Amino acid sequence: MPSTVLIGGQWGDEGKGKIIDLLTEDVDFVVRMQGGSNAGHTVRIGSEEFVLHLIPSGILHENKKCIIGNGVVLDPQSLFEEIETLTSKGVRVGENLLISETTHIIFPYHKLLDVLREKLKGSKKIGTTGRGISPAYMDKVGYMGIRAIDLLDEDVLREKLRTNLHEKNLFLTRVYDHESLDFKEVFTQYCEYGERMKPFVHDTAIILNEALKNNKNILFEGAQGTLLDVNFGTYPYVTASSTTAGGACTGSATGPTWIDLVVGVVKAYTTRVGSGPLPTEFPPEADFVDRKRDREYGSTTGRSRRCGWFDSVILRHSVRVNGIGAVALTKLDVLDSVPRIKICVAYRYNGELIRDFPNSMRVLGNCEPVYEEMDGWVTPTSDIRRYEDLPENARKYIERLSELIQAPIEIISVGSERSQTIFRGEPLVRRGSSARHAAVRLPVGVEERRGPTMAGGPPRRPGRPGGQGGGVRT
Ligand code: GDP
Ligand code: IMO
Ligand code: MG
Repeated sequence: MPSTVLIGGQWGDEGKGKIIDLLTEDVDFVVRMQGGSNAGHTVRIGSEEFVLHLIPSGILHENKKCIIGNGVVLDPQSLFEEIETLTSKGVRVGENLLISETTHIIFPYHKLLDVLREKLKGSKKIGTTGRGISPAYMDKVGYMGIRAIDLLDEDVLREKLRTNLHEKNLFLTRVYDHESLDFKEVFTQYCEYGERMKPFVHDTAIILNEALKNNKNILFEGAQGTLLDVNFGTYPYVTASSTTAGGACTGSATGPTWIDLVVGVVKAYTTRVGSGPLPTEFPPEADFVDRKRDREYGSTTGRSRRCGWFDSVILRHSVRVNGIGAVALTKLDVLDSVPRIKICVAYRYNGELIRDFPNSMRVLGNCEPVYEEMDGWVTPTSDIRRYEDLPENARKYIERLSELIQAPIEIISVGSERSQTIFRGEPLVRRGSSARHAAVRLPVGVEERRGPTMAGGPPRRPGRPGGQGGGVRT
């Protein structure tokens, strides 16, 4: 399959890093298309653990190209810190990393304003990661962002930075009573960053589209999760980017017609960091998640994650707004010792039953979850590798979730290591690539573009929800 988009189906930290790492085996390019170093994607390889913030997780694989797309907001300080950490662990970062010329750059005033704005909001704060994400996107849509290509031209950088810093310093001093930033200091630092970034900066729109035309396999690495999406999330308790599948196109210069499959990574329960509604949040006495053992501390900020039962209302919303065609269900093993498991099937608000995700945060914040209960399996699952070998109640849980969210669960993760994975049916990316290879057998003279679509018969669209890729297979 030329293009697979992988996104988080909940509030982030679903285990995307692990699944991306698995799927990277079968692709040529891994592309980050939104967010910035607010992300923390953990990949465990044996006893070694890597947490990727900005650089696509594919960097851990030899001979894969990694693109930081135009939809990302890039903090050069984070970038170089990450490159140093990776290099010190023996990971090669060189011509395998490509940064889009039109990626927007995070400056010190973005990070400062992020933190000061949160402080001013007090109890109403969003709980941001403090990485300058929202202020950088604000500048982007406010027509005053500075892009990677601008860092490579000192005259352009000088002019843009002077204008921006003039405005930012007014904010810093007059609104936040903070000292102003020194132009020369920031300018010198960013000229230096520009020099160091130069070898990585390219017109990635051309590179990516050439790759697509040459039948290369592309994996889009979503960051955060659907409920943090600026359009479809629990606004205003969201992040500033399009974390849903559509963001893969606008954040990388890929036309929507190239996308074959959207994989939703979904945790077997629910977590969130930061403020905002979380209807199924555990009351303290029901909270079975051991934050340390189960790795439920934020990978970027170290904050303890809020945890709750699986919420199928938010997942149905996720499947809908992303067009999820396959689900990777992670952290099933965390439920191994829970004797009774609840699944949220609807909400109740003011006596009314709500089955669809409500856009009113007042409703979402005050509704009561309606639960279905089932017996747990109370058996370790981490060493199981075949679906049939899972305890019956674990299979019942998975099948019920699939039914409720209306999407096939094709990968089940039972531990953080690569090997702790159960695949149901043909591996996702390979399944797609077999469709692509069918294109090679097109009748002579038929122009090949979307191979199977042009072949005359009905297109094989593994990515379409409820289409050929739909249905629960074992
Ligand atoms: P991401 O942001 O979606 O990539 O997720 P994070 O890396 O922030 O958080 C997921 C955490 O759970 C990491 O520490 C992973 O190593 C870990 N993890 C991933 N999959 C599994 C799993 O199936 N079981 C367990 N126990 N841990 C997992
Ligand atoms: P990955 O990719 C979980 C949350 C923050 C906060 C909100 C806004 O590892 O899943 P921001 O700094 O983006 O302005 O913060 O978004 N948030 C995440 N939560 N996982 C993430 O990334 C997140 N990135 C941002 O906690 O609630
Ligand atoms: Mg994370």
